[in-house]
Amino acid sequence: MIEVREDCSLKAYNTFDIDVKCKYFVESDDEEELRAFVAEYEWEPSEILILGGGSDFLFTEDFDGTVFYPHMQGMEIWKEDEKEVWVRVGAGVEWDDLVAWTVERGWGGIENLSLIPGHVGAAPVQNVGAYGMEAGERIEWVEAIELEKAVRVQIAGKNCRFAYRDSLFKTEWKNKYLITRVIFRLSKQPEFRLDYGALRQELAKVETPLTLSDVRQAVIRIRQAKLPDVKVLPNAGSFFKNPHVPRLQAERLREQYPEIPVYEVDEACCKLSAGWLIEQCGWKGRRLGKAGVYEKQALVLVNYGGATGVEIARLANEIRKTVFMKFGIWIEPEVYVM
Ligand code: EPU
Repeated sequence: MIEVREDCSLKAYNTFDIDVKCKYFVESDDEEELRAFVAEYEWEPSEILILGGGSDFLFTEDFDGTVFYPHMQGMEIWKEDEKEVWVRVGAGVEWDDLVAWTVERGWGGIENLSLIPGHVGAAPVQNVGAYGMEAGERIEWVEAIELEKAVRVQIAGKNCRFAYRDSLFKTEWKNKYLITRVIFRLSKQPEFRLDYGALRQELAKVETPLTLSDVRQAVIRIRQAKLPDVKVLPNAGSFFKNPHVPRLQAERLREQYPEIPVYEVDEACCKLSAGWLIEQCGWKGRRLGKAGVYEKQALVLVNYGGATGVEIARLANEIRKTVFMKFGIWIEPEVYVM
């Protein structure tokens, strides 16, 4: 079914709980109906926004355009062999429902991504990642509507240029494709990925042999201890990306701050923890009006109730400035500030 609403509030559709409106809101759970609609509907590319679970956006003003809210449901086996299973999942499925469904069946590959808020359709855009795993590693195909041509297409995961919190859907293909379904390739023989320190520690308490469910439960415990529940304290997960810096710069910082967490990316480049940098600037737990920095994870900005998008954006800007002044690094938002 397709539903089009005018002057629609987006409050229920963004996890920061910001009360802004869009001009038109187009919701559909049927790709063919949506394709036919798109074939008739006219817009400027700058006037559209594709929204999933709404955990990637900070709205600072009303959106004077059309919001597409693809809501395709369903999780099914697409094909399988002895070792692997391919599952085809609707873009509107809650990401964590997919993880729970695959873990229950003993299919491995996304268990470390438990409890990440958002919809399946956002996984290829953001290349969601946590605890040493990224969704892009498991995305075989992305089904989408190519908006300008109003045709349905299937894009190979290997062509999406997945990188840290990034893909072509965020850059060159922005607003070109509307993702409707995603096909993931999962493993019938669990290959645990436990390189991440906090996860290894948490699992040390669990009896062997390990199961996918043990890993999922451990990830859930770690996340619940560190990250606020969007239903209680509206937020968008990590607000900033962890910055990549030249190795030389990371080494200089380590001389000055021996305890700074530095992760190797490649020969030329290292990754730093934005959360650590922000905490060192004294922001952890601080508030500016109704917006604040979460007390247990400085990478997460929260709406303490009734904050506007502008208030949260202002806080983010203050944080960026102080991090630059202390460390010489501009941290970049992971969420789109609209
Ligand atoms: N740290 C601090 N203070 C803080 C936060 C972190 O000192 O307030 C330090 C930690 O002690 C640790 C390091 O920074 O040494 C890394 O922290 P953590 O393990 O919490 O991970 P992160 O780098 O802050 C990233 C992702 C999270 C993901 C975790 C686990 C990004 C932007 N964020 O956070 O993703 O859950 O790793 O893999 O890459 C999200 O995207 O919404 C999200 C929560």
